[in-house]
Amino acid sequence: MSAMPTRHRTRRPAVEQAAPLQGAGVAAARDGGAEVVVRDVVKSFGTIHALRGVTLTVAPAELVTITGPSGSGKSTLLNLIGSLDRADSGTITVAGKPVPEPRAAVEFRRRVVGFVFQDNLLLPYLSAQGNIEAALLATGVGLHERHSRSLELLAEVGLADRARHIPSELSGGQRQAVALARALANNPRLLLADEPTGALDSASGKRALDLLAKLRERHGMTVIVVSHDAAVARRADRVFHLVDGRVRAG
Ligand SMILES: Nc1ncnc2c1ncn2[C@@H]1O[C@H](COP(=O)(O)OP(=O)(O)OP(=O)(O)O)[C@@H](O)[C@H]1O
Ligand SMILES: [Mg+2]
Repeated sequence: MSAMPTRHRTRRPAVEQAAPLQGAGVAAARDGGAEVVVRDVVKSFGTIHALRGVTLTVAPAELVTITGPSGSGKSTLLNLIGSLDRADSGTITVAGKPVPEPRAAVEFRRRVVGFVFQDNLLLPYLSAQGNIEAALLATGVGLHERHSRSLELLAEVGLADRARHIPSELSGGQRQAVALARALANNPRLLLADEPTGALDSASGKRALDLLAKLRERHGMTVIVVSHDAAVARRADRVFHLVDGRVRAG
C-alpha cells in the first residue's frame, strides 16, 4: 500500500559528460521522447536579461546539472521549468506537455515536480516527519498513509531515527535530507534541486549527492540539479553551463 511506484527506466547506462544538445540533437531528443524540452527561452526582469534564449533537452531519468557563475540565470531557468515563474518567450515542455502558467500549476506541482531549494525552507515548528506529512497533505493522502509514508520517506533518506526532531535539532545535511524526502513525497517524475549542497561542507554535500543519485536509481525520476560544485557536476550524466543567460557547450 505504501510502496512508491517505480517508473520504467530508460536511462543510458554509461555516465557521460557531453556538450548540451543543440540543433539536430535537440530535434532528435524531442522525437525520442525527451522528458524536458526547453526551447529559445527568454526571461527578463525589467532591464536585466536573465535568460537570453536557452535551449536544452533532458532525457527521461537523466541526471543533469546546470552550472555557471552567480547571476547567470540558473535559478531563473529552474523556476521556469518548475512553473514558479513564466517565460517572456520560448517554450518549455515536461513529459510532452507545456509547463502550465504558475497560476494554473497546482496539479503540476502536486503531481509532476518536486523542488529542493537551497535554504530548504522546512517549517521550523514541525518535526522532520511533520514537514513531510504536510507535503503529503497537499497531495490528498489520508491521515494513516501520511503517517506511514512520511516514516518510509525518512527511512529512505537515512533519518528514521530523527522523525520527531524539529529542523533546529538537525544538522544542515540532515535538514537537506528532510527537504529531499519532502520533495519526493508526491513521487515526482521530475526533481528540481537548486544548490542542494550549497550550504553543506564537502563531506555532507557528497552524502547529499550520493542520496540524490541513489534515489534517482531507485525511482527512475529525471533530476535537474543547479550547482556551483564541481563534485556535483562530475556525478551528472550531462552538464549544462550557463553564462550570461545562455548555454555554453561543455
Ligand atoms: N525576481 C527578480 N527580479 C529582478 N531581477 C532578478 C529576479 N530574479 C533574478 N533576477 C536577476 O536575474 C539574474 C539571474 O538570476 P538567477 O537567480 O537566475 O542567477 P543564478 O545563476 O541562480 O545565481 P546564483 O548562483 O547567485 O544563485 C541576476 O542578475 C538576478 O539579479
Ligand atoms: Mg541561484
